[in-house]
Amino acid sequence: MSINNFPQIAIDGPAGAGKSTVAREVARRLNIKYLDTGAMYRAITLKVIRNNIDIEDKQTLEEMLKNTEIELDEEKRVFLDDEDVTEAIRQPDVNAMVSPVSCISLVRRRLVGIQQKIASESGGIIMEGRDIASKVIPDAHFKFYLDASLEERSRRRLKEQLEKGMQLAEDKVTADIANRDKIDSSRDDSPLTVVEDAIIIDTTDMSFEEVVNKIVKEVGVRLR
Ligand code: DC
Repeated sequence: MSINNFPQIAIDGPAGAGKSTVAREVARRLNIKYLDTGAMYRAITLKVIRNNIDIEDKQTLEEMLKNTEIELDEEKRVFLDDEDVTEAIRQPDVNAMVSPVSCISLVRRRLVGIQQKIASESGGIIMEGRDIASKVIPDAHFKFYLDASLEERSRRRLKEQLEKGMQLAEDKVTADIANRDKIDSSRDDSPLTVVEDAIIIDTTDMSFEEVVNKIVKEVGVRLR
């Protein structure tokens, strides 16, 4: 893949580090595709919850994965078997279950396959998640790791949820993020890690604009 025509950018980091909003804006500025891989894990989790699937039951899980379609459109809406689940996948029940579901290798294999296909067919892409640089596109031209303190990440999530009209207790949001951090970083299959050649950006004291500008600048320096 040519770096100039088809730059591939990986953004990894823990929950609430600002990956989605930042990646979306960088994609807009560079005029490349954006893929939120967390939304795919969330969609599968929603299906697991709705169908009351026992995640230990590999056969049922495999059958479900085979018969599941996930689509993300250009407006960043998420479709699960043709149903718009954009809002449903951000609800507390999915937040609570998404990390355990993401530990399952069957789930990861299926989603990583879809993500790699999207990356290979796209003319330049920015993908964000937990294993993008380590697993999905290890040859990405640019690898960023976004981080922030737990307090700041909780504060951002709380604000985001308040804006959507959801009133959640601060300590509950902090506990949910800390729990997801722990599971996402300690699982056996593709845990959240900082790859050796990643540019680490601690966004705790940075504004959204500053983070976006830093990434666009780093990319711009290497593009013609
Ligand atoms: O980015 P997010 O918070 O929406 O992601 C939800 C969960 O999905 C996250 O807690 C772990 C999982 N995930 C993953 O395992 N690998 C990815 N590439 C993206 C997300």
